[in-house]
Amino acid sequence: MKVLIVGSGGREHALAWKVAQSGRVEQVIVAPGNGGTATMRKCRNAEVEVDDIYGLLQLAEREDVDFTLIGPEAPLVAGIVDRFAAADMRCFGPSAEAAQLEGSKAFAKQFMDRHGIPTAAWAEFDQVEPALSHLEKQSYPLVIKASGLAAGKGVIIAEDRAQAESAIRNMLEMQQFGSAGAAIVIEEFLHGEEASFIVMADGTDFIEFATSQDHKRVHDGDQGPNTGGMGAYSPAPVVTPQLRQQVLDQVIRPTLEGMRADGISYTGFLYAGLMIGSDGNIRVLEYNCRLGDPETQPLMLRLQSDLVDLVQAALQHRLADTKPHWHSKPALGVVMAAQGYPGEYAQDLAIGGKLHSTPECAVFHAGTSLRDGQLVSSGGRVLCVTALGDDLQQARDRAYQRIDEISMDQAHYRQDIGHRALGKL
Ligand code: AMP
Ligand code: GLY
Repeated sequence: MKVLIVGSGGREHALAWKVAQSGRVEQVIVAPGNGGTATMRKCRNAEVEVDDIYGLLQLAEREDVDFTLIGPEAPLVAGIVDRFAAADMRCFGPSAEAAQLEGSKAFAKQFMDRHGIPTAAWAEFDQVEPALSHLEKQSYPLVIKASGLAAGKGVIIAEDRAQAESAIRNMLEMQQFGSAGAAIVIEEFLHGEEASFIVMADGTDFIEFATSQDHKRVHDGDQGPNTGGMGAYSPAPVVTPQLRQQVLDQVIRPTLEGMRADGISYTGFLYAGLMIGSDGNIRVLEYNCRLGDPETQPLMLRLQSDLVDLVQAALQHRLADTKPHWHSKPALGVVMAAQGYPGEYAQDLAIGGKLHSTPECAVFHAGTSLRDGQLVSSGGRVLCVTALGDDLQQARDRAYQRIDEISMDQAHYRQDIGHRALGKL
């Protein structure tokens, strides 16, 4: 079999690594891929960007791939799955209509209200004045979000009214996020602990993935600006068996059934970003129509089932008879970023040392590329060093030990990945 994976991050390297382990797979093509997927066994890169849907379809047809797996949200929201389906090519992910759950925060909030799915109180605006008047009745912190896709940068936590006002003006007047910020959502700030709950859906049935938790802030102790994610581990002990049931009953089933009731069949990964309050109430912060990055990296280390079997079962609507198996061992991944990320950061930083992957410790690449045979950084998040352990502490020790054996100029990584879970154990 030949599989095409679309994307260039750590998530896609982890997916390619897992797909390549399938005995049925001869070749994995990653478009555009990174320095890690360029050199991995059974794997090669193709120079087609993730937003070049026509180019990706041509690539899939030319290579006669058995199916295509999409990593990031942008091509999904742009309709890659519909385009492939029209050409009779198998592509796993939601249609453009279904991907609106991530592509439009206003759509997602209306959907949640309509179907009784718990989320923060909100209001939508596309004009400055009504948005500013709305601030009069609000308390702080307050969350201002660009409704459309803004590459993870469109959420502002305003600590006071002045910050809220400038966020509103930046989005609606200055068009800071272009058309993604032409409409905004202003919502109540939720307190609690976040968790990522991911399922795989086939239009009718779904299977749960193991739980996980990301670390959004750039610095230790959850300080500093939000990033795409600085590290993740699985499972997330905050999701107790009782809470898991609550998430299934209050969020996952009503979401998939609500989509169906609205005439939209949801196929693909569905990621509910949850806030778990100290009172045990859960609320949906956001939906993603894809796997998380970096959550996928520890998840792929823990997944014992063949990922190709799971994707094929989903494409053939057989998930009702499918059960994924997970290592009971936890896994934890630490992102090595370039100093300065998520702001300005240097590129072309030389990377060396012990970069090979084993079943217990994988070095997944994100922003890396090969330049004249030398591995260099080409993005803000550069590597995600991910390890399994008998317990979370061992997984974490292994990941950090490996980081010590990797050399990267101007590397920045958090020292405290897993702190919430370890505090609970
Ligand atoms: P989103 O893209 O909506 O997930 O937002 C990105 C991150 O912003 C979330 O993972 C949270 O850390 C934070 N966030 C978003 N909405 C809220 C909210 N209503 N209350 C508190 N934090 C939020
Ligand atoms: N790690 C968060 C996300 O993928 O959206």
